[in-house]
Amino acid sequence: MTDWRPGERRPDTASMLRVNQAGEYGATRIYAGQLAVLRSNSPASQLVSRMAGQEKRHLDRFNALMSKRGVRPTALQPVWHAAGFALGAATALISEQAAMACTEAVETEIDRHYGSQLDQLGSEDPELASDIADFRAEELEHRDAARDAGAAQAPAYPVLTAAIRAGCRLAIALSKRI
Ligand SMILES: [Fe+2]
Ligand SMILES: [Fe+2]
Repeated sequence: MTDWRPGERRPDTASMLRVNQAGEYGATRIYAGQLAVLRSNSPASQLVSRMAGQEKRHLDRFNALMSKRGVRPTALQPVWHAAGFALGAATALISEQAAMACTEAVETEIDRHYGSQLDQLGSEDPELASDIADFRAEELEHRDAARDAGAAQAPAYPVLTAAIRAGCRLAIALSKRI
Protein backbone atom coordinates (compact mmCIF):
# COMPACT_ATOMS: atom_id res chain seq x y z
CA MET A 1 0.00 0.00 0.00
CA THR A 2 1.35 3.39 -0.93
CA ASP A 3 -0.03 6.89 -1.38
CA TRP A 4 2.36 7.43 -4.24
CA ARG A 5 1.01 7.62 -7.77
CA PRO A 6 2.91 7.98 -11.05
CA GLY A 7 3.82 11.60 -11.67
CA GLU A 8 4.05 12.47 -7.98
CA ARG A 9 7.41 13.11 -6.39
CA ARG A 10 8.46 10.36 -4.03
CA PRO A 11 9.89 11.54 -0.75
CA ASP A 12 13.69 11.54 -0.75
CA THR A 13 14.19 9.08 2.08
CA ALA A 14 18.00 9.08 1.75
CA SER A 15 18.05 12.82 2.41
CA MET A 16 15.62 12.33 5.32
CA LEU A 17 17.86 9.74 6.87
CA ARG A 18 20.91 11.95 6.38
CA VAL A 19 19.40 14.98 8.10
CA ASN A 20 17.93 12.86 10.90
CA GLN A 21 21.23 11.16 11.63
CA ALA A 22 22.91 14.58 11.65
CA GLY A 23 20.30 15.90 14.08
CA GLU A 24 20.57 12.97 16.46
CA TYR A 25 24.35 13.24 16.29
CA GLY A 26 24.09 16.95 17.10
CA ALA A 27 21.79 16.13 20.02
CA THR A 28 24.32 13.72 21.54
CA ARG A 29 26.96 16.45 21.20
CA ILE A 30 24.77 19.13 22.82
CA TYR A 31 24.13 16.86 25.79
CA ALA A 32 27.82 15.91 25.99
CA GLY A 33 28.65 19.63 26.19
CA GLN A 34 26.05 20.19 28.91
CA LEU A 35 27.21 17.18 30.91
CA ALA A 36 30.80 18.45 30.76
CA VAL A 37 29.66 21.61 32.55
CA LEU A 38 26.71 20.66 34.79
CA ARG A 39 27.53 19.58 38.34
CA SER A 40 27.39 15.79 38.28
CA ASN A 41 24.52 14.25 40.26
CA SER A 42 22.57 17.53 40.17
CA PRO A 43 18.94 16.99 39.08
CA ALA A 44 19.66 18.81 35.80
CA SER A 45 22.61 16.56 35.08
CA GLN A 46 20.57 13.44 35.82
CA LEU A 47 17.81 14.60 33.49
CA VAL A 48 20.31 15.40 30.73
CA SER A 49 21.99 11.99 31.15
CA ARG A 50 18.68 10.23 30.74
CA MET A 51 17.82 12.23 27.60
CA ALA A 52 21.35 11.68 26.22
CA GLY A 53 20.84 7.92 26.52
CA GLN A 54 17.71 8.17 24.36
CA GLU A 55 19.50 10.34 21.78
CA LYS A 56 22.19 7.67 21.58
CA ARG A 57 19.54 5.07 20.80
CA HIS A 58 18.07 7.33 18.07
CA LEU A 59 21.52 7.91 16.60
CA ASP A 60 22.47 4.20 16.67
CA ARG A 61 19.26 3.33 14.86
CA PHE A 62 19.75 5.92 12.10
CA ASN A 63 23.39 4.86 11.75
CA ALA A 64 22.27 1.26 11.27
CA LEU A 65 19.61 2.23 8.70
CA MET A 66 22.13 4.37 6.79
CA SER A 67 24.66 1.60 6.52
CA LYS A 68 21.96 -0.92 5.58
CA ARG A 69 20.76 1.39 2.80
CA GLY A 70 24.14 2.74 1.73
CA VAL A 71 23.30 6.36 2.57
CA ARG A 72 26.31 8.60 3.18
CA PRO A 73 26.38 10.80 6.29
CA THR A 74 26.39 14.58 6.00
CA ALA A 75 29.76 16.11 5.15
CA LEU A 76 29.00 18.61 7.91
CA GLN A 77 29.43 16.03 10.69
CA PRO A 78 32.65 17.69 11.97
CA VAL A 79 30.79 21.01 12.16
CA TRP A 80 27.94 19.49 14.20
CA HIS A 81 30.52 17.72 16.37
CA ALA A 82 32.00 21.06 17.43
CA ALA A 83 28.91 23.28 17.23
CA GLY A 84 26.71 20.84 19.18
CA PHE A 85 29.20 20.54 22.00
CA ALA A 86 29.79 24.30 22.09
CA LEU A 87 26.05 25.03 22.21
CA GLY A 88 25.56 22.56 25.05
CA ALA A 89 28.52 23.79 27.06
CA ALA A 90 27.72 27.49 26.51
CA THR A 91 24.10 27.16 27.60
CA ALA A 92 25.05 25.09 30.66
CA LEU A 93 27.67 27.72 31.58
CA ILE A 94 24.96 30.40 31.58
CA SER A 95 22.76 28.41 33.97
CA GLU A 96 20.90 25.14 34.40
CA GLN A 97 17.76 26.90 33.20
CA ALA A 98 19.56 28.04 30.04
CA ALA A 99 20.60 24.42 29.41
CA MET A 100 16.91 23.49 29.70
CA ALA A 101 15.90 26.36 27.39
CA CYS A 102 18.35 24.95 24.83
CA THR A 103 16.70 21.53 25.00
CA GLU A 104 13.24 23.06 24.80
CA ALA A 105 14.20 25.09 21.72
CA VAL A 106 15.97 22.23 19.94
CA GLU A 107 13.19 19.72 20.60
CA THR A 108 10.53 22.19 19.43
CA GLU A 109 12.25 22.35 16.03
CA ILE A 110 12.91 18.60 15.91
CA ASP A 111 9.24 17.92 16.61
CA ARG A 112 8.24 20.15 13.69
CA HIS A 113 10.88 18.57 11.50
CA TYR A 114 9.83 14.98 12.30
CA GLY A 115 6.17 15.94 11.94
CA SER A 116 6.76 17.32 8.46
CA GLN A 117 8.73 14.22 7.44
CA LEU A 118 5.87 11.99 8.61
CA ASP A 119 3.45 14.07 6.53
CA GLN A 120 5.69 13.72 3.48
CA LEU A 121 6.13 9.99 3.97
CA GLY A 122 2.48 9.11 4.37
CA SER A 123 2.46 5.34 4.00
CA GLU A 124 5.83 5.28 2.18
CA ASP A 125 8.79 3.64 3.89
CA PRO A 126 7.01 2.38 7.03
CA GLU A 127 10.35 1.21 8.48
CA LEU A 128 11.71 4.76 8.57
CA ALA A 129 8.35 6.31 9.47
CA SER A 130 7.90 4.12 12.52
CA ASP A 131 11.33 5.09 13.88
CA ILE A 132 10.60 8.76 13.27
CA ALA A 133 7.24 8.52 15.06
CA ASP A 134 8.82 6.65 17.96
CA PHE A 135 11.69 9.12 18.35
CA ARG A 136 9.42 12.12 17.91
CA ALA A 137 7.42 11.02 20.97
CA GLU A 138 10.62 10.94 23.01
CA GLU A 139 11.73 14.36 21.72
CA LEU A 140 8.41 15.76 22.94
CA GLU A 141 9.04 14.22 26.35
CA HIS A 142 12.44 15.95 26.37
CA ARG A 143 10.85 19.28 25.48
CA ASP A 144 8.26 18.94 28.23
CA ALA A 145 10.83 17.79 30.81
CA ALA A 146 12.97 20.84 29.98
CA ARG A 147 9.94 23.11 30.41
CA ASP A 148 9.11 21.50 33.75
CA ALA A 149 12.74 21.98 34.82
CA GLY A 150 12.47 25.75 34.44
CA ALA A 151 13.54 26.54 30.85
CA ALA A 152 11.48 29.75 30.85
CA GLN A 153 13.47 31.11 33.82
CA ALA A 154 16.63 31.27 31.70
CA PRO A 155 18.10 34.75 31.27
CA ALA A 156 17.01 36.39 27.99
CA TYR A 157 14.77 33.36 27.38
CA PRO A 158 12.95 34.71 24.28
CA VAL A 159 16.14 35.80 22.54
CA LEU A 160 18.06 32.68 23.56
CA THR A 161 15.41 30.26 22.35
CA ALA A 162 14.73 32.21 19.14
CA ALA A 163 18.45 32.13 18.30
CA ILE A 164 18.76 28.41 19.02
CA ARG A 165 15.66 27.60 17.02
CA ALA A 166 16.98 29.60 14.05
CA GLY A 167 20.28 27.73 14.34
CA CYS A 168 18.45 24.39 14.31
CA ARG A 169 16.47 25.32 11.21
CA LEU A 170 19.68 26.31 9.45
CA ALA A 171 21.41 23.08 10.51
CA ILE A 172 18.44 21.06 9.21
CA ALA A 173 18.40 22.88 5.87
CA LEU A 174 22.15 22.41 5.41
CA SER A 175 22.24 18.74 6.45
CA LYS A 176 19.55 17.84 3.92
CA ARG A 177 21.75 19.05 1.10
CA ILE A 178 25.38 18.70 2.10
FE1 LIG B 1 16.67 12.24 19.36
FE1 LIG C 1 15.79 14.71 22.07
